[in-house]
Amino acid sequence: MLIPPDPFWLRPMSLLDLPEVREIDRLSFPTPARVGLFEHELEQNDLAHYLVLGRMGEADGRLHPIIGFTGFWLIADEIHVSTIATHPQWRGHGLGELLLLALLLESYDYPATMVTLEVRRSNTVAQELYRKYQFEEVGTRPRYYRDTGEDALLMTMPSLNARYFQFLDGQQTAVFQRLRSEA
Ligand SMILES: CC(C)(COP(=O)(O)OP(=O)(O)OC[C@H]1O[C@@H](n2cnc3c(N)ncnc32)[C@H](O)[C@@H]1OP(=O)(O)O)[C@@H](O)C(=O)NCCC(=O)NCCS
Repeated sequence: MLIPPDPFWLRPMSLLDLPEVREIDRLSFPTPARVGLFEHELEQNDLAHYLVLGRMGEADGRLHPIIGFTGFWLIADEIHVSTIATHPQWRGHGLGELLLLALLLESYDYPATMVTLEVRRSNTVAQELYRKYQFEEVGTRPRYYRDTGEDALLMTMPSLNARYFQFLDGQQTAVFQRLRSEA
């Protein structure tokens, strides 16, 4: 597991995290995750892996609050990103990037060979993040999102190879520097 610079921390998600995770989820997506989804993912889905990102110290009456999370499914040698979000108050500081980086680095532990995800066509912020990590648009899923009827773009990072690992290593240095300077 990636160890970010203080005051940030990362660890696997647990059931105790769910009130904070649900709050960030509610603030982040047009339709929040259905009731029981996170419980199912953590307790019954052997393919699912979830991480939470927090910050040491007190904020909003909470000690060491959770400020982001991500999750993925490992299906054969493929990682599928199921979710990623940072708390709206903490966006634009490199923390979404830290979460994606942690997920991508963890992919090498299994090992996986490729990463896929769906993203709303209108979600240009997330698409920029994925492009920064060399994801390519490989297709669309028309009207994939039932809440708004919006299309999904299917994006992949097709080659989790040694060269890409070097790239991730460089990105880690840059993200850590940014987090230290903004902490
Ligand atoms: C997508 C999300 C996780 C990004 O998290 P974040 O903490 O704001 O992002 P970061 O500060 O780490 O930025 C990382 C990169 O994302 C992109 N990005 C972030 N904010 C952006 C903005 N306002 N405009 C364009 N690109 C942006 C950039 O590529 C940025 O790299 P840079 O800082 O070198 O320019 C966050 O916006 C979020 O939770 N959105 C709601 C949930 C969501 O849409 N999840 C994705 C589902 S597919």
